[in-house]
Amino acid sequence: MVQPSSPRALLARWLSSRGKTPRADPAFLARFGYRFDAIADLVLRLYAPRLDDPDAFVLRVADLLAGAHASRPAELRAGDAEREARVAEGREPWFLEPGLAAYMAYLDRFSGDFRGFRERLPHLERLGARIVHLMPFFPCPAGNNDGGYAVSDYLGVDPRLGTVADLVEAARELHRRGLYLAADLVLNHCSDEHPWALAAKRGERRYRDYFHVFPDRAAAERYGRAMPEVFPETAPGNFTWVPELDAWVMTVFHRFQWDLDWSNPEVFVEMLGILLELANRGIDILRLDAVPYLWKREGTDCRNLDEAHDIVRLLKACADVAAPGLAFLAEAIVQPSEIVRYLDSGGVEECQLAYHASLMVLLWDALATGKTAVLSRSFGEETRLAPGTGWLSYARCHDDIGLGYDEEKILRAGFTPRAHRRFLLDFYSGRYPGSFARGRLFMEDPRTGDARISGTCASLCGLEKALEEGDRAAVDLAVKRIMLLHGLAASLTGIPLVFSGDELGLVNDFSWLDDPALADDNRWMHRPRLDPEALARSEVADTVESRVMNGIARFLRLRKDIPAFAPDAPFEVLHAQDEHLVLCLRSPKEAAAKARILVAANFTAKSRAVRFQELPAGLGAPARDLLADEDAPSVLEPGTGEIALGPYALAWIALAAPERKAGA
Ligand code: GLC
Repeated sequence: MVQPSSPRALLARWLSSRGKTPRADPAFLARFGYRFDAIADLVLRLYAPRLDDPDAFVLRVADLLAGAHASRPAELRAGDAEREARVAEGREPWFLEPGLAAYMAYLDRFSGDFRGFRERLPHLERLGARIVHLMPFFPCPAGNNDGGYAVSDYLGVDPRLGTVADLVEAARELHRRGLYLAADLVLNHCSDEHPWALAAKRGERRYRDYFHVFPDRAAAERYGRAMPEVFPETAPGNFTWVPELDAWVMTVFHRFQWDLDWSNPEVFVEMLGILLELANRGIDILRLDAVPYLWKREGTDCRNLDEAHDIVRLLKACADVAAPGLAFLAEAIVQPSEIVRYLDSGGVEECQLAYHASLMVLLWDALATGKTAVLSRSFGEETRLAPGTGWLSYARCHDDIGLGYDEEKILRAGFTPRAHRRFLLDFYSGRYPGSFARGRLFMEDPRTGDARISGTCASLCGLEKALEEGDRAAVDLAVKRIMLLHGLAASLTGIPLVFSGDELGLVNDFSWLDDPALADDNRWMHRPRLDPEALARSEVADTVESRVMNGIARFLRLRKDIPAFAPDAPFEVLHAQDEHLVLCLRSPKEAAAKARILVAANFTAKSRAVRFQELPAGLGAPARDLLADEDAPSVLEPGTGEIALGPYALAWIALAAPERKAGA
């Protein structure tokens, strides 16, 4: 290997040879200079052993960035400048703007295609969502394609959904309305029909090296001996025999999703080019799909390895140069202590947003048990945030609910971990006597007893059962539960995220069973089509759809004007004497905005009370419940120092500023 030059010398070389073109803009050159050392360092750290000429490789990356920036449309550059200026002025980054809320949907299920998308925007505006995540819309194999997460062309658009021009126009339309577009970068794997995979199958060495290929089963198994399985029921193992290659390929997810070998610098360059091109089409947030899996090392579990973090840092540093308005969202559904590393890895930027997967599970835990100890204790400990980053807080998404939380937290709450998990699985699959939930187990593994949970928010909250039984009181309770979970996602921390269909209280959709391409993946039961009739009912008073839709929209509307609910505003979980309540104190970031809010939630069907005398002194007196309306005039009981909380009730109690002691 040729010895690498110092980053400074290399930068000077690049600038004198290529950087001073008439098109290079000074802001780009400034960012480039600022990030160059980090980029060169990370490139060498990750790829030095595989590079014959590291200088040439770094210069190639530099050219790629300059090219991407040169072709970045003027309106996106103007947007970048605004986003940078806002931070320079000392304001929070654009994606942490108070009041933002997100919505995620499969385009075909939401609006048919890109053309129908525009017509659905008023629905999103009525809901109050401003970040719209359209799930993979790329060309993918016919039949089972894991909901588009097996990508055959990262820069194409699935012809059933529209064209690249439609995508660009959708982004423009969102921007005109003050909304943002989020999209997936499925970077851990591509489909076995991607041209790279096809070339590998044709015997092209260059492309075979894009994947993890093993000559025989024993070699594959030795490498993957500590790798857990993602889909043990339907896609057991982590490797697939590919006759055309006469070899085994690593396929951590499905057999048609080939893991890319990110230790190959060519894979990095390809993906960087794709990332920058997607950014140039107007995407504001890239969701890094399955990011913990990026780097593999024999004998490890191949998750969360340090190099996976280095790759994200390198991609981010590059994006910051060429498309600085872009934010990354980590899809890291791993242990809480690992999730936060994608947000805060010691001061070097990785992702700016991450799914708060642990909060999601904890909400479902509390709803099934009616007890909040696991939620209250764990939430506070697992929510640590680095400045400039935020959570997406949600009740449901398109994936299953995995019960991957710390044993220790369950133990501390007084439960036995194994029995507790079993209870939750039984409860949400409706097997537990008296359960209101109608879900199914996903990926049940008889060897370990592990399983995850499928089902829509509404069905897991009891709506499906209640409607089927024609039980109006049970319907009311189910609606209250749906509201409770969404209300907490809107007020505990972060940016609330609503999954398509949940805003209408849609129940499980069993049509998935009729489609052979979907039939072995019961996650499709909770990915319903946005039924136009249900949408119409959401505009008719007193229907379930309108109650849920208006209820969630109200949360999102009210929270916009509450400084204490800014995504990154501080919170503190208070100890509740009553083990069925959650109490969380939110404080505005600016001391000048005094109003602190006590979020209080009752996880049972019985009325309960928050006794103010039991709460820490200095909280300030409860002034007003911001959620109270004509139907529920007030939860404050004057004179008693109590807040009454009805079944599954949520209250946002504005606290009067505490009286200062004389001389304080
Ligand atoms: C992510 C997606 C999930 C998909 C997997 C493989 O976890 O959310 O739906 O199955 O990645 O791409």
